[in-house]
Amino acid sequence: MTTTQPDGQSTGPVGARMRTGPLRAGQRVQLTDRKGKPSTITLQHGGEWHTHQGVLRHDTLIGRSEGIVVANEAGYEYQVLRPLLNDFVLSMPRGATVVYPKDSAQIVQVADVFPGARVVEAGVGSGALSLSLLRAVGDQGVLHSYERRADFAEIARGNVAAFFGEEHPGWAVHVGDMQEKVLEVEEPGSVDRVVLDMLAPWECLDAVKQIMAPGGVWVSYVATVTQLSRLAEAIRESEGFTEPEAHETMVRTWHLDGLAVRPDHRMIAHTGFLLAARRLADEETPLTLKKREKQSEVSAEDLAAWLPDDVQQPWDEQAFKKRPVTGKKARKAAAHAQKLADAARGAVDGELDDPDVGPAGEPGGTGAAVAEGDREEDQ
Ligand SMILES: C[S@@+](CC[C@H](N)C(=O)[O-])C[C@H]1O[C@@H](n2cnc3c(N)ncnc32)[C@H](O)[C@@H]1O
Repeated sequence: MTTTQPDGQSTGPVGARMRTGPLRAGQRVQLTDRKGKPSTITLQHGGEWHTHQGVLRHDTLIGRSEGIVVANEAGYEYQVLRPLLNDFVLSMPRGATVVYPKDSAQIVQVADVFPGARVVEAGVGSGALSLSLLRAVGDQGVLHSYERRADFAEIARGNVAAFFGEEHPGWAVHVGDMQEKVLEVEEPGSVDRVVLDMLAPWECLDAVKQIMAPGGVWVSYVATVTQLSRLAEAIRESEGFTEPEAHETMVRTWHLDGLAVRPDHRMIAHTGFLLAARRLADEETPLTLKKREKQSEVSAEDLAAWLPDDVQQPWDEQAFKKRPVTGKKARKAAAHAQKLADAARGAVDGELDDPDVGPAGEPGGTGAAVAEGDREEDQ
């Protein structure tokens, strides 16, 4: 599918206009100085970027190619590139914590998300994972994203529109608890892939079982071993899926300088675990793996002791020692994301305030400058 501009020009697949060609007003660019410090701005006709190193006029970039090196009015130089999806995700406005790029990439692969697939995702949070899923399903695919917080859904809508610069034809966001809402929207047995990123994914198990097509892949992203264990046992008990498989992804960056070529001293040690299982056909029961039979010394009582019930152990933010994201913070992030989306859609004609100044009045406001690995369990 190709998308068409108001001037009748075909622009190729959704979002392609934002990724190639000369730099245009409404697009985000990343300016990296000699110290390697990146800053992201949204280009506007007549716009100016002020730092303590001087002023850079946006018009010196608009219409030019990315990959150039430009100097500001004080002669301070920057390398100019469009942010990649990874860069965009780490600097976009956020309410809930995002899935980090190393995990999004892995989720797309493990869930085998293919062009044209029909995918369900929950919760949407800030929409980081939605971006990777939308790219993977492409213009012919469908992604239905469920989010219980309307304010978070609003942030995600802004971020997705800002990234693609237009509406994705296959994307719909539904506000409500996934386990209830999904049954109103999806036909039984119609969904190819389900991806959950939430505190208590086992609460969605019955719904997932109903909506998934036989052979479909369900991937859950969880932050703690207690969640991992509880979900794995619930999936087994439901008897509607293959044996669940778990893994985590560690990415180690390297220092490259002459003969000093070695792993970096610091790395992100933990973000989350992935648990994957495939839906069996109705009326089929999973084969019990021989390996597991031998390990049957774990009794139901043992499991109950390890996985206390909800009365003893509520699965909420407090149990995870996290501060819930306030409505005020989420509203600020949503307004910021919306501004960036308006700029990206080209709806801006120079009268808009600087879209990179978040409503909090700080550059980047509710997003920007977040290092990979600070994922909190604010689900
Ligand atoms: C960590 S955030 C998701 C982040 C998101 N995947 C991203 O990459 O930006 C978890 C989200 O799940 C939502 N949530 C939790 N349980 C839910 C449920 N049962 N149905 C819908 N949304 C839910 C929370 O409100 C929260 O926004």
